[in-house]
Amino acid sequence: TKVVLAYSGGVDTTVCIPYLKNEWGVEEVITLAADLGQGEELGPIKEKALKYGASESLVADATEVFVKNYAFPAIQANALYENRYPLSTALARPLIAKLLVDAADKYGADAVAHGCTGKGNDQVRFDVSIAALNPDLKVLAPAREWGMSREQTIEYGERFGIPAPVKKSSPYSIDRNLLGRSIEAGPLEDPWTEPLEEIFVMTKAISDTPDEPEYVEITFTQGLPAAVNGKALDPVALVSELNTLAGRHGIGRIDMVENRLVGIKSREIYETPALLLLIHAHRDLESLTLTKDVTLYKRGIEETYSQLIYNGLWYHPLKDALDAFILKTQEQVSGTVRVKLFKGNATIVGRQSEQSLYTPDLATYGAEDQFDHKAAEGFIYVWGLPTRVWSQKLRG
Ligand code: ARG
Ligand code: SIN
Repeated sequence: TKVVLAYSGGVDTTVCIPYLKNEWGVEEVITLAADLGQGEELGPIKEKALKYGASESLVADATEVFVKNYAFPAIQANALYENRYPLSTALARPLIAKLLVDAADKYGADAVAHGCTGKGNDQVRFDVSIAALNPDLKVLAPAREWGMSREQTIEYGERFGIPAPVKKSSPYSIDRNLLGRSIEAGPLEDPWTEPLEEIFVMTKAISDTPDEPEYVEITFTQGLPAAVNGKALDPVALVSELNTLAGRHGIGRIDMVENRLVGIKSREIYETPALLLLIHAHRDLESLTLTKDVTLYKRGIEETYSQLIYNGLWYHPLKDALDAFILKTQEQVSGTVRVKLFKGNATIVGRQSEQSLYTPDLATYGAEDQFDHKAAEGFIYVWGLPTRVWSQKLRG
């Protein structure tokens, strides 16, 4: 048998290589590392997999696809799980699943594998996404079955020459890509414990942020981020630039207890500077360009959409149908939002659009006012009629 293994270069996924071969009788393990802009050199990872028994070591350069096809649709949907988490980790899983399925197809593999444990969301996202893309493909999840503690895993690896992590291993479990970092475990498992400053990489502590605010103008074209301060940027460059800008001002940190799909509450720290900034700016632009009823209806769609992503249903008919709705609404969402970045806050201070539905002649309190005040009287009579009927009845 031949297996394509999702590979990060860490001890756990490295141990999966000898484990699959020796315990499960897999003949050939092909590893696949996905470059999602995590800012890590993947060359050494490629070598590492070969050294510990992979027959082939693939590196997929997927950052652009990740931003364009996974992050940008989520921004158009203003996707925030439980109103807070912009799904930076969750969005990567269906893409990695696709890369695995494509590689399995190309190399004629019988199965794909990942190193997720049985407690998390990620296993669900991988397994279900793979099933959606190729329902006949087997999925192996050794770490879900081997029942080894972290110490035992390291010990097992040492039998095959896999060195234990050099430093005393970090107590944290960290997932990282261009959109952000997710940090859990270790001292963070106590929800009362404040995260240490050392866990943050993309965002500055407020005490280290500039004492002057910085303004940034973000331009969207049909809901897609297109330019920063008037300069058109490709999706990857745009997100990188905003990560730097927002991160410098300490914007994009989230500390939350979230509800995992498997029923567990989990304390998670995120830093997602660009993604959070883009969602806030995008949502504000929609306030200018979408009608009231579309906006309110879209809020409900966004909630469902976020749950679908979190719960591993990226490839799903409901998700496809909601995509069509969201895409239609985005025809009206072009324009520019002006944001003031200062001491951890991204405050929207201006917005403009050629598609703006904001009508100064109607909104003004000045002499130019075109709104027919007298029409309000009849409207209020009709609008309030059911309330009046109800109140009269109540009072006898
Ligand atoms: N809880 C987040 C999610 O479900 C992130 C999990 C990523 N893993 C980690 N080691 N922090 O998307
Ligand atoms: C894992 O257990 O694999 C990471 C956490 C998660 O998937 O939620």
